[in-house]
Amino acid sequence: MGAQVNRIRPFVPVKRRAIANPSPPLAVLLMTCWEALILAGVVMATTFLVFGDLHGRILPAFRLAMAWGRDHGIAVAGLLQVGDLGYFPDAGKMDRATVRHAQKDPLELGTRLLAEPSPEADAVFEGPEAPPGMMWFTVGNHEDFDALARWERGAGPRADSFPVDAYVRVRCIRDGQVETLPGSLRVGALWGIDAAAPRARRRLPEAAYIRPKRATRLSYTPHDVLLTHDSPRDAVRPDSGSEEISRVIRTAQPAFAFFGHYGGMTWPVAGDFGATQVFHLGDLRLQRDGGCAEEGSVGALTWEGGKGKFTFLDARWLRGFTRHNWQTR
Ligand SMILES: [Fe+2]
Repeated sequence: MGAQVNRIRPFVPVKRRAIANPSPPLAVLLMTCWEALILAGVVMATTFLVFGDLHGRILPAFRLAMAWGRDHGIAVAGLLQVGDLGYFPDAGKMDRATVRHAQKDPLELGTRLLAEPSPEADAVFEGPEAPPGMMWFTVGNHEDFDALARWERGAGPRADSFPVDAYVRVRCIRDGQVETLPGSLRVGALWGIDAAAPRARRRLPEAAYIRPKRATRLSYTPHDVLLTHDSPRDAVRPDSGSEEISRVIRTAQPAFAFFGHYGGMTWPVAGDFGATQVFHLGDLRLQRDGGCAEEGSVGALTWEGGKGKFTFLDARWLRGFTRHNWQTR
């Protein structure tokens, strides 16, 4: 087979496409056709990889998705990410923790490789093998909030998400908003971490904290997947996590809720979440056993006909993706 031609396709939210408000008979016909195509196996499931905290490792995440898709014969439609992307396009604006980590690991500086064109990003996005179309993320507590605010203003008030990189491959879903992704997957995002629990982190910039009004908005906006950075209250550690996130899950009942923030610990999260399956994802740092991808840092979400399945990537496969081979793997 010849090499696939890589083209950046502008992302067009499904709800804004041409047939935005079909008449009832047409809507019924379209739905019937869609269901028939699914049943006939013509419409394939849409697969996303969901990542934990990346702290700058954006290009390695795209490469990991390309390698996993190639090895498994699955087209990855996009990447989802739970915040602490490490969005610091200007090294002079990094917070103290990120500066400290970056002194030991230059992968923490990875956002700069996409904020402006770079040979490393050219190799991923303009090479012979097409990468997944887009990464969508929510905002954590280690980001350049001013830079994100500038991009958000530039996108205009009606956009549910906005790009933050020179390649238009990384999109931030607006706080409290829902974006519709390929496969008609509706993904809601709530930014920041909790400020109210007894063990909440203090003295962070205001932009690093959850805004209750955005949680309220999201509670009453239907969505299939919820991306937050912090956990539901008491879901990982007692007296930590957000009651606001618990409230969104209980009220909106998305099929899945994903969060990060707590590092290495990872598991399906038990709790009173009704129909929602809740998962914590660990950090992808490429530091395990000398540089391997960490187990529990990434999973595959398959979405088909309004239903989904999520599984963490195989630990043995992840050991073959390392900080030493990510650019060629
Ligand atoms: Fe965090």
